[in-house]
Amino acid sequence: MRATVIGLGYVGLVTATGLAEWGHQVTGVEASDSRLRSLRIGRLPFFEPGLAELVTANVRAGRLGFVPVDRADAIGEADVVITAVGTHDGNGGWQTATMQACLSQVVPQMADGAVLVVRSTLPPEYVRTLGEIANGLRREVGRPAIPVLLNPEFTQEGRAVSDFMEPDRIVMGVISDPDGRGQARLAELYEKALAPMLVMDGVDACLSKLGANLFLATKISFANELAHLCETFGADVVEVVRALSHDSRIGGKFLRAGVGFGGSCLPHQVAMTVHTAELAGLDVPVLRAVHQVNARQRALFVERLTQAVGGSLDGRRIALLGLTFKPDTDDLRDAPSLTIARSLLEAGATVVAYDPMLAAAERAASLVPGLVIADTALAALEGADAAGLVTEWREFADLDWPTARSVMRRPVVVDGRNALEPRELGAAGFTYIGFGRGLVPQVPPQTMRPSAATDGVAITASAASH
Ligand code: UDX
Repeated sequence: MRATVIGLGYVGLVTATGLAEWGHQVTGVEASDSRLRSLRIGRLPFFEPGLAELVTANVRAGRLGFVPVDRADAIGEADVVITAVGTHDGNGGWQTATMQACLSQVVPQMADGAVLVVRSTLPPEYVRTLGEIANGLRREVGRPAIPVLLNPEFTQEGRAVSDFMEPDRIVMGVISDPDGRGQARLAELYEKALAPMLVMDGVDACLSKLGANLFLATKISFANELAHLCETFGADVVEVVRALSHDSRIGGKFLRAGVGFGGSCLPHQVAMTVHTAELAGLDVPVLRAVHQVNARQRALFVERLTQAVGGSLDGRRIALLGLTFKPDTDDLRDAPSLTIARSLLEAGATVVAYDPMLAAAERAASLVPGLVIADTALAALEGADAAGLVTEWREFADLDWPTARSVMRRPVVVDGRNALEPRELGAAGFTYIGFGRGLVPQVPPQTMRPSAATDGVAITASAASH
């Protein structure tokens, strides 16, 4: 089948490449010249494990190509046109202007037998109007109506290729498809996916996408609430979640406590759903709490670092480990690290950060004036009064912590992802402060002396014990 994907951002490029891998003839259309140039020489505009290799293989096999927006043939010859343009306004809100412009340009040129598939995440009120928008554009040029479907993606950064190739489900939201032609075409497009195909109304499909992300965010904020309960009663949330995970009604995923969720989807979709629900006169107390707990976790991390250095950050040196919003990505969108770094700097600390994605770290420095970037984790830790782990890159769990202790001024770690082993850190002479892992240890006063670099501070029993 011939598919054209409009917009080669994260969603569009993964979709185009995955469809080509399944044997479809795919053309990717991109408005940005620089992005197009990079793609044509096999360079991706972002990091995603396994994607570059798949793009190269499919380009070489002649199943995947990239063209600029003015190539009308890419639209006119396609059996399916998939729109995957951005819908964020960059300020935490939705914007539909790009989608509107894309539809105005593309829909009139589509072949009469073609199908329009909208893949971007959009607000429900806009989804309800999509059928009329598309077929209004067709009427204006005197061409017959086309089927319009919503096909949301559930891709996680860092595992986008497997999420696309082996999805849990495919959701087909029917916006306008009087003779079923659109559904048949979409089923054919995904026939190699071996996943249940769920056919529903377009708005249901839209809410199924939002609902999935809202639920994942709720699970994370719940884990953070549970972490507070654990601290109050001296329990370890990691152990508690280990037990919960064996309950098939609950599962163990998305229950990692810590600095909370970031990224381009979860924070934005929770905030926007609360906002639009309130505009519609609907109270959504659970989602409001999810948002509040998430914001509190970032503040709590800063508070813990403040306590860890004796009550004031002024003049202290803090090492931040990890800047991207999660491991295996170079994405900094709504990364907790940025909020945290700004707060630490405002409180007078010197903040030296390290992230294995050095290019992302450089971008973080341009977003947070004053943030210093180190080339290695040990360089960031050199002379630090405390370390704060924000992103659970494997490299930090594997770090030589005894050596880290020898270069730091004070051996204190605040683990914002519960990613380190408290016992191991305790054995290396660190005070370990996690989230919900026993009573929060009080940093002994002697470690606050200016010459404390060589003081041995053992982890308190409550935090070390599992
Ligand atoms: C999310 C959805 O998972 C995906 O289905 C949707 O298509 C896009 O949004 P993504 O933004 O890539 O994907 O990241 P995800 O893996 O969901 O993590 C989101 C944030 O939650 C990250 O900051 C992560 O560190 C945090 N998180 C995740 C936790 O704090 N605890 C957890 O247990 C899991």
